Amino acid sequence: MSRRRRRDPARQAAYRVLRAVTSSGAYANIELARQRAALAPADAAFATELVNGTCRGLGGYDRVLAAASGRELRTLQPAAVDVLRLGAHQLLGMRVPAHAAISTSVDLAALEIGERLVGLVNAILRHVSERSWDGWVDVLGADEDDLGRLALANQHPRWIAEAFARALPADELAAALAADNEPARPTLVVRPGLAEISELGGEPARYSPYGAYAAGDPAGVTAVAEGRAGVQDEGSQLVALALSRVDAPEGPWLDLCAGPGGKSALLAGLAATAGQRLVASELHPHRAALVADNLRAYPEAARPLVVTADGTRGPWRPGTFSRVMADVPCTGLGALRRRPESRWRHQPSDVPELAVLQRRLLAAAIEATAPGGVIAYVTCSPHPDETVAVVADALAGGEVDCLRAPDVLPEVPRATLEGESGARTREADSLSERLVQLWPHRHGTDAMFLALLRRRGR
Ligand SMILES: C[S@@+](CC[C@H](N)C(=O)[O-])C[C@H]1O[C@@H](n2cnc3c(N)ncnc32)[C@H](O)[C@@H]1O
Repeated sequence: MSRRRRRDPARQAAYRVLRAVTSSGAYANIELARQRAALAPADAAFATELVNGTCRGLGGYDRVLAAASGRELRTLQPAAVDVLRLGAHQLLGMRVPAHAAISTSVDLAALEIGERLVGLVNAILRHVSERSWDGWVDVLGADEDDLGRLALANQHPRWIAEAFARALPADELAAALAADNEPARPTLVVRPGLAEISELGGEPARYSPYGAYAAGDPAGVTAVAEGRAGVQDEGSQLVALALSRVDAPEGPWLDLCAGPGGKSALLAGLAATAGQRLVASELHPHRAALVADNLRAYPEAARPLVVTADGTRGPWRPGTFSRVMADVPCTGLGALRRRPESRWRHQPSDVPELAVLQRRLLAAAIEATAPGGVIAYVTCSPHPDETVAVVADALAGGEVDCLRAPDVLPEVPRATLEGESGARTREADSLSERLVQLWPHRHGTDAMFLALLRRRGR
């Protein structure tokens, strides 16, 4: 007869979140918010740490579990694998004592899946508990090169570590990977002209004159509730600011890929300050609605026109705009801190697919820009195939020149792209010097990339 199984609301909630993430592609943050509502504060905090840590470590924990069980995980019931993953994180990534991590995992398996699994879960987790995380990295990384070990130790797929390595000096890779495992500092932004930094209640942001770190729940800030301020990573603020600062002819501004409207909301105020109007365009109607909501606090005279359109063939004449923001869809590898499961969800094959769309959108952005006007090509990814390679191809088209974007953000130290950038020619090196690459470990921002391109033929 089995002993009486103990219910544990925090672990059961974490299990349900992980099941939704691994079986139906749910976002951990969203599922967690749903589950947290029913939990006491201490349980909610434990469930959050358990889910986030397990999701971040998914690929590494699966390697540990395969080694500890001596079998491929696909031969186990997927629900049991999720119980084991949660157990592995408690043993290797949290300060839960081994006996507690194992017995609660056994109870969880019995309650959520069935008594027949308890022996298996117990045996596998006992093997896992024989080593620390560092001990497992030593064992699993024994046959790997330095990059493979660094990726494993810092819970990243190898291909992402490889991409970061191409965009960074070698001695910064470990810090860059480690920074993805730390939570991002919630940052607020004022809509210029509608709110003051002092209304945000927190310490001013490091570089952006429009930003401040949130002192509490952003929803409790009146200016945020009224749409006169918003939540926005400082890196996103800086790339929008850079486009507003560069010298360009008079004329309307365009945000080509605007949804959900964070950058549009800052650009709208910056454009109004310069006596210009912004057009905010977005492909998906539901995301265009989010853009409109983000712009709601602007008075009629300054409120951007929101357009639902495919940016590769927008409903405007060529050469219409003086400044164009092309914040293109990307892998989001620069924001891994925010979505714990995302590093395991992306595949290397996503990159070439996205790069095709990125090139088309940049070409359309160039066509929409007036002679002498400026395009900001932006990604929330430091992957060189999404950044410098796309820009290099656009430059080869002969219609634009690359400006020195780091000079436009003089307050941001070491903002220049410093990696080998996937190419070793002198030309590629001098191109890197003109490009901005922000990093969580250097700047505390998402890893945003920015190129500023001026359309020829003034
Ligand atoms: C990186 S996000 C933009 C983020 C936004 N600039 C902000 O700061 O809130 C890229 C956006 O491009 C949109 N998109 C995808 N394909 C597009 C296309 N062909 N034309 C225009 N927008 C597109 C996506 O729906 C997504 O909202």
